[in-house]
Amino acid sequence: MHNRKISVISLKVLFLFLIFGLGSLVMSELKAQTQVNTRAEWFKEARYGMFIHWGVYSGAEGVWKGEKLRYDNDYAEWIYYRNRIQKDEYLTLLEDFNWETIDPENWVILAKKAGMKYVTITAKHHDGFALWDSNVGTYDIGEYTQPKRDIVRELADACKKHGLKMGLYYSHWVDWEHQYGWDHTNEIYPLTDEQYDQYWQEKVMPQMSELLTNYGDLGLVWFDMWIHHSKTIVTKEQLLQLKSMIRELQANCLINSRLGLSVEEDPDVDFRTLGDNSFGTMKLDYPWQSPATIAHSWGYHALENQWKSSTTLIKSLINNVSLNGNMMLNIGPRANGDVPFEIENRLLQIGKWLERNGEAIYGAEGFDLAKNQHDWCRITYKEDQNKHKVYLHITNWPLDQEIKLTGILSKPDKAYILNQEKNPLPFSHNTVVTRLSLPNNQPDPLVSVVVLEYAEYPTTENGLVAQSMSNGYSLTPDNWNEAPDETFLERPERFGSIPTHIIVDESSSYSWRVFIDEPGTYHLDASYNYQGDRLDGALIVSMDGNKLSSRIENTKRTVGEPGNNWQIDSFVSHKIGEIEIKETGYYDIKCKIQAPTGEELGFQWLWLFKKD
Ligand code: GLC
Repeated sequence: MHNRKISVISLKVLFLFLIFGLGSLVMSELKAQTQVNTRAEWFKEARYGMFIHWGVYSGAEGVWKGEKLRYDNDYAEWIYYRNRIQKDEYLTLLEDFNWETIDPENWVILAKKAGMKYVTITAKHHDGFALWDSNVGTYDIGEYTQPKRDIVRELADACKKHGLKMGLYYSHWVDWEHQYGWDHTNEIYPLTDEQYDQYWQEKVMPQMSELLTNYGDLGLVWFDMWIHHSKTIVTKEQLLQLKSMIRELQANCLINSRLGLSVEEDPDVDFRTLGDNSFGTMKLDYPWQSPATIAHSWGYHALENQWKSSTTLIKSLINNVSLNGNMMLNIGPRANGDVPFEIENRLLQIGKWLERNGEAIYGAEGFDLAKNQHDWCRITYKEDQNKHKVYLHITNWPLDQEIKLTGILSKPDKAYILNQEKNPLPFSHNTVVTRLSLPNNQPDPLVSVVVLEYAEYPTTENGLVAQSMSNGYSLTPDNWNEAPDETFLERPERFGSIPTHIIVDESSSYSWRVFIDEPGTYHLDASYNYQGDRLDGALIVSMDGNKLSSRIENTKRTVGEPGNNWQIDSFVSHKIGEIEIKETGYYDIKCKIQAPTGEELGFQWLWLFKKD
């Protein structure tokens, strides 16, 4: 057995931590906060909101004096810092703003049409410039507009008028304007704690007090510090001082974890914010949210052109709801207030999709089956007028017009395409597999939803491998039932040319469980990589009293990219044999991997499939 003593579970945790990457908080542990604060009930229900990044930087559009934003692949709203702009000169960007056409109500109307339930604007981003008429200092929009504008007030009024909650983003930690605010150059030329506290007491606290007092009820305040307070200048006391002022002035206002306090450290923090464009990978019992962009930057960037499709964005939303999460999708309006066509167009498409399918999103939550159990759907659930509804969001419409759902023991009373209740879908149910026949063409051009209705909360059986889109069972290190404790999951490399696998260097056994509802002749293949020449390694698969054995052979190497001098070890699929399955039922598949003496091999999967 490979001797790195790290369990699969702890590796999953490590993986999560790594993918949250820059822009996320250091999570001390992933211990779940169990209660949902009652003030967060609306947020759980809402599931989908708008983020607006708009400010002085919107006038630069990612270019300063003809020079593209420095530091490739970065955010347009960071141009002040990245391109080392002088403070006074930065404000000349405001000369390009068209105050006649700027109307925050238009953003709110767009949010409403997009099916969003709340709107969060950058009241103050890292550049330190306030979008409201602040009495703290002079670096605010009131000072630079004639007649004075107050974007926060205009947005608050529009949200009230159109029935959406308002959230305010406030950059508390980073502030490039105040001489003692945090600026990453301070990692080189340090600030003293006293200086930072001066910034905190004379800018953060009084500005937050204005925002919490003058703009009516706030749905949430959204802070932005992506490292733990122990790793930077902000102290826990300062964060608690800010939090207690929020609780005092706005008892129902939610606070996100990028305040710098995780929900584990302080369960009074209402929801966890994942890293930028990081979507859920596991179900959490407390509220959480992904901030997401449609291209890359948050503020408008004229040179960006990699727009995600509406379907991709809808799938991200569905994924999050299926894990009890929320998605806040960003728009970066231009200096005249216009929302770029590419953004508006996608938002309207998503809005139309939600008009048709919103029942499966708003107020819906995750269901009791593993996230990656089915490769053709994500599942949400809702109790609705005493009916228990399981929503199958079919992210890949099957070519054979049949879906096989594995894991629900209860038989549904009814199955239909959402909003087509009058045309029930034919289905059959066998123990733990529900098969449904679908129409030829998927009804929704983006993602179609099938509803299964039950009289009681459906009971589930976990730990089964479901049939995949390709009508077989893919038995992998990601879905096994039993494996030795110290199994290390090697993640894909080389753009996926090296797939997820485990390394075995002695002998070890793994097992999976399936429910087979179609008896017949089943074939087994195995995919592995072995670079040595010894012939004493073997794979021994046992299933239903049968034993199939196959000698491990060298799988050779391949050139990663023609003409380039890099090579990768090949994972090759091998036929292992066939097994006659006579009866419907549960089957355990055990695989003993015997590595060639003194050498290691990489194991990827077993593939169990029926040949007609
Ligand atoms: C990051 C960036 C910032 C952006 C935010 C959105 O923290 O610094 O520019 O506002 O993420 O999630």
